[in-house]
Amino acid sequence: MSEIGKTVLVTGAAAGIGAGIAERFSEAGYSVAAFDIDGAGATRMAERLRAHAPAIAIQGDVAVEENAREAVTKTVRDLGSLDVLVNNAGIEVSGSVSDLTPTAWDRQIAVNLRGAYLMSKYAVEQMRGRGGAIIHISSVHAFVSWQGIAAYDATKAGLLGLTRAMALDHGPEKIRVNAICPGYIDTPLMERWLASVPDREETMRQVLSYHPLGRIGTPRDIGEAALFLASDAASFVSGAFLVVDGAMSVAGH
Ligand SMILES: NC(=O)c1ccc[n+]([C@@H]2O[C@H](COP(=O)([O-])OP(=O)(O)OC[C@H]3O[C@@H](n4cnc5c(N)ncnc54)[C@H](O)[C@@H]3O)[C@@H](O)[C@H]2O)c1
Repeated sequence: MSEIGKTVLVTGAAAGIGAGIAERFSEAGYSVAAFDIDGAGATRMAERLRAHAPAIAIQGDVAVEENAREAVTKTVRDLGSLDVLVNNAGIEVSGSVSDLTPTAWDRQIAVNLRGAYLMSKYAVEQMRGRGGAIIHISSVHAFVSWQGIAAYDATKAGLLGLTRAMALDHGPEKIRVNAICPGYIDTPLMERWLASVPDREETMRQVLSYHPLGRIGTPRDIGEAALFLASDAASFVSGAFLVVDGAMSVAGH
């Protein structure tokens, strides 16, 4: 089935993986609602996307209920429907449980987990009965951990629990729910991390050595995976976790 006339709402669409997802869906003919806390970034993205298909920008914080509800309402009002939701917006707060303040913990959970819950809650209202697809951007950190990102890892594992629960609850309403677990992807988030390590070149060499495919991922790699999960080609895929990491995690990293 053609994607022309279908609509996707992508959170965190102004940069990184969300931008890659928004661009890939737009190229495929989807109308795109680009939702981001960075309103100017979302506006620039929507302007770029209009080269392919209709697009709107929405400024807001996924963790704020009113913003999440309005994002869904505005998507349906301005673009005509909501067929696909991609819960991509996320932050990475550093620290072990000893280091993390309760405030930092709460913000990590609010953006990565409460945000996905809120967006899904209002998206399901629109998709119920007519069908739809919801994709959570989790991480290989749902399965493997590194030192010093305890709260982040908890949210990414939590998103897989949410995927399972939503696939069960909303399958009868013809809503498919899946998760993508990316590995290292070249984004501003990764740039910020590289800027914080003592030896950037050495760290990058090490990171590349973890990847049997010899490269790290691109936002477009995740866009392709999301487009598949949203498409009719995946009409029997729900409750699944798609690892997109160039075999890094099976190599033991
Ligand atoms: N980059 C990686 O290697 C990697 C790996 C695995 C998973 N992920 C996940 O992919 C997602 C995107 O990561 P990225 O690397 O593109 O990050 P990024 O920081 O490069 O971009 C994130 C985007 O989300 C927006 N955003 C942040 N908080 C928001 C909020 N509260 N409400 C709305 N928008 C918000 C930012 O403004 C930004 O545009 C995250 O969930 C992240 O955990 C990233």
